Amino acid sequence: MKTLCLYYSRTSLTKEVMTRIAEGLEADLYEYTDGKDRSGILGYLLASIDSFRKYPEVTIKDLETPLEAYDRILVGMPVWAERPCVVGKAFLKQYAPQLKNVYLIVTHMAAVPYTKQILKLNDLLDTPAEGYLSVATGKGIDYTEVDEFIERLRS
Ligand SMILES: Cc1cc2nc3c(=O)[nH]c(=O)nc-3n(C[C@H](O)[C@H](O)[C@H](O)COP(=O)(O)O)c2cc1C
Repeated sequence: MKTLCLYYSRTSLTKEVMTRIAEGLEADLYEYTDGKDRSGILGYLLASIDSFRKYPEVTIKDLETPLEAYDRILVGMPVWAERPCVVGKAFLKQYAPQLKNVYLIVTHMAAVPYTKQILKLNDLLDTPAEGYLSVATGKGIDYTEVDEFIERLRS
């Protein structure tokens, strides 16, 4: 099964998780982005402002790989302001017609899983996600659940 791992990551934590998953599944790994610089304190503020806008202006740049070349697509994104971030949501909305056999991976600082918020992402998809993973990064990434997730997808 040809698998693609996509991620948006402001401070590289989602990237780290998605890199581990891509290695475990022997998948291709690419970033998706709207191209806005959200690094540093100013970037944190911009991300917060976008999170509270009803209609944030977020347009995802063209991807470096064609989605139709893959049998399974894993999409990673961080939580901002108690919800999956606006960049991740914009990606799902923009590419929904091309997303089949999708898995959602969300990273967050809090120890509690963001299950309800992840399931709400299905509203943006044409076909509901096949599975999801909520990964706490606040005390360092615990790879136990990530590795279990990889094993489930490998079998
Ligand atoms: C603007 C902003 C808001 C955030 N809000 C939350 C939040 O509500 N709950 C939470 O657990 N983590 C929150 N975080 C932390 C990130 O979700 C967490 O550190 C994530 O793993 C970062 O991933 P990244 O390095 O790929 O950007 C927030 C981060 C930012 C930048």
